[in-house]
Amino acid sequence: MAHENEFQQTFVMVKPDGLQRGLAGEIISRFERKGLQLKALKMIRIRRELAETHYGEHKGKPFYDGLIDFITSAPVIASIWEGENAVHIVRKLVGATRPDEAEPGSIRGDFAITTGFNIVHAADSEKTAKREINLFFKEDEIHDYPLTIKEWLYQD
Ligand code: RTP
Ligand code: MG
Repeated sequence: MAHENEFQQTFVMVKPDGLQRGLAGEIISRFERKGLQLKALKMIRIRRELAETHYGEHKGKPFYDGLIDFITSAPVIASIWEGENAVHIVRKLVGATRPDEAEPGSIRGDFAITTGFNIVHAADSEKTAKREINLFFKEDEIHDYPLTIKEWLYQD
């Protein structure tokens, strides 16, 4: 688990199925309501090359080709969220990879029924988060602005 009190940015993507099913607002809303700060947001159609880089760790696995086809099949919503222990917290909110293992209350636990259509992606470590943020966003697409409710979310 991430070191306590560490401020982090993480990468989240509403996958094509999440967008098609009209769940983009619901998914984004969950991170907002948690108290994470939205730093960047855009809708894109992922090119094959980017998909292969993003999911490079899974190359050669039986589900890889289908995963690349799926993630490039329709637009996605890419985002960056910031907060204390954001990487770990977002993974908890997203839930386990397999929706039959994802806890109710998590996004996958509440809205997904198969692993192939698990509606949302989140970076699985701080290192991965940095890599994915750099893959998907340019520096001028990431916004620095004050989080005015910060004093109600964090102790000094
Ligand atoms: P993600 O990267 O999409 O956030 O998901 P994850 O970390 O929870 O899971 P990961 O092991 O990285 O797998 C990436 C995505 O590949 C698809 N998958 N299908 N059919 C299968 O057995 C299988 N296994 C993985 C899922 O869409 C998974 O989210
Ligand atoms: Mg993953």
